[in-house]
Amino acid sequence: MKFLITGATGLVGRALTVQLLAEGHSYNFLTTRKQQLDSDPQGKGFYWNVKEGVLDESCFQGVDCIIHLAGASISKRWTKAYKKEILDSRVAGTELLANGLKTLEGKHQVKQLIAASAVGIYPSSTELLKEEDAQQNPQTFMEKVVFYWEQSMDRFSELGIGIAKIRIGLVLAQEGGVLATLKIPTQLGLGAAFGNGKQGQSWIHITDLVNLFMTAATARWTGIYNAVAPNPVSQKNLMKALAKALKRPYFMPPLPGFFITMLTGEMSALVLESHWISAQKVIDKGFVFLYPELEASLQDIYQKTGK
Ligand SMILES: NC(=O)c1ccc[n+]([C@@H]2O[C@H](COP(=O)([O-])OP(=O)(O)OC[C@H]3O[C@@H](n4cnc5c(N)ncnc54)[C@H](OP(=O)(O)O)[C@@H]3O)[C@@H](O)[C@H]2O)c1
Repeated sequence: MKFLITGATGLVGRALTVQLLAEGHSYNFLTTRKQQLDSDPQGKGFYWNVKEGVLDESCFQGVDCIIHLAGASISKRWTKAYKKEILDSRVAGTELLANGLKTLEGKHQVKQLIAASAVGIYPSSTELLKEEDAQQNPQTFMEKVVFYWEQSMDRFSELGIGIAKIRIGLVLAQEGGVLATLKIPTQLGLGAAFGNGKQGQSWIHITDLVNLFMTAATARWTGIYNAVAPNPVSQKNLMKALAKALKRPYFMPPLPGFFITMLTGEMSALVLESHWISAQKVIDKGFVFLYPELEASLQDIYQKTGK
């Protein structure tokens, strides 16, 4: 198959393109950075600029499936202007892709969109376990971002293209992502839970996430799927397991929630909110997790890097 990948230069995209090639597929990719266009000898790069509505439509040539991962990072400070960028890069980016395909109607062969979404669409809750059909009534900034992002994906169904929305949890990977941030205090022996530490953390090993994207694409899944391991943990247990994997002590008291909110503002939601998310739907589809347990995932990750 031939793919078009957006966000191919990011954490998930880099791992995905490696797997794609390993499975004998080929890909084009879209990047917002012109210097990245020739950075990948395996894939053909095309430029787009979401803000200016610029898209090189030759990126769709020969493509069967789009894997759409692009979006401005949510880990930068949420100023008013940056919040707009988080939302626009996702909603306007998705619409730009759909508009590009619409102008090519009858002259492209794209049959499927596999799009990244996030478990942040679910309201924070101590309840076990949120399924994909949970009612949506977005209230917080992050819930609204993901809600409108998913809504923009529906443009593709008007074009007769199958859509799979993949609601991703915290991605655990060797480099980057949430572990890169949590690792710093933990390596100093200062790892601590945030708030009361009881909030649910729904995580997924990057290998499982990449396999899930590949399965969704090759088996032509449509609908909404949670991309989380079947065993979410409390925030406190995540920090404890990380300290254990890094062979560091874990003794610090939790950092009070008000202190984190004082330092990071609304963005504190990222670590204080609770998401216990179900993996049952993908399991029922026959998906097999290589890393269903947190400890084994962290062991794999830190064995590979040697820390
Ligand atoms: N990592 C996680 O834990 C996690 C959890 C839930 C959901 N997700 C979602 O999954 C997707 C992939 O995650 P990731 O961790 O791989 O993200 P990432 O490392 O931040 O990469 C995202 C990519 O999006 C592109 N991008 C950045 N700003 C953009 C903008 N303003 N307009 C258009 N494209 C832009 C960049 O590609 P270029 O610079 O080449 O344009 C970048 O490589 C993201 O949409 C993310 O929100 C991730």
